[in-house]
Amino acid sequence: MAEIDTENVSKKELSRRKFFILISGTLSSFIAFILGIPLIASILGTVSKVKNKKLSKLTRVSTIPILKPVNLNFATTKTDAFIKSVEPQDAWVIKRSNSDITVFSPICPHLGCRYAWNSNQKLFICPCHNSVFDINGKVISGPAPRGLDTLPKKIQQGELFVLWERFKVGIPQKIEVGD
Ligand code: FES
Repeated sequence: MAEIDTENVSKKELSRRKFFILISGTLSSFIAFILGIPLIASILGTVSKVKNKKLSKLTRVSTIPILKPVNLNFATTKTDAFIKSVEPQDAWVIKRSNSDITVFSPICPHLGCRYAWNSNQKLFICPCHNSVFDINGKVISGPAPRGLDTLPKKIQQGELFVLWERFKVGIPQKIEVGD
């Protein structure tokens, strides 16, 4: 009668178990990695979006009239996944002095229409639902839940630069939603 080598069998059993543990561990890590890719990409995407934000040149400060809001065009440059795109934007600029300038987003904080300066009434008026704002962006009347949104700006060597941003509409708080 053949003798069973119990020591050899248990060694084989042990190495088979080790093999399965190793395989299942590797598989779990691989699945976790695959599932984690969108999260990592979204985090990196947000970081790169912030990094890619660039100030755009608006105009020379000396060319802006005092206390007469002007709508100025500019271009924003965005780089997403190595693709560079240029988008036209505009903003309302109010100069009180060479060092006191406000730049407003041209988007109405009510529901996102574009408002305009009415030079006769000296007010910003949104044609969609008649929200009215004064020269400082304060709501005078209408359904707008907050005043006009200011954009970050910088004056450097006599030039005015702006940072393009978008904000949530229809709420009292000014919350950035990206570009
Ligand atoms: S979108 Fe401007 S008032 Fe409604």
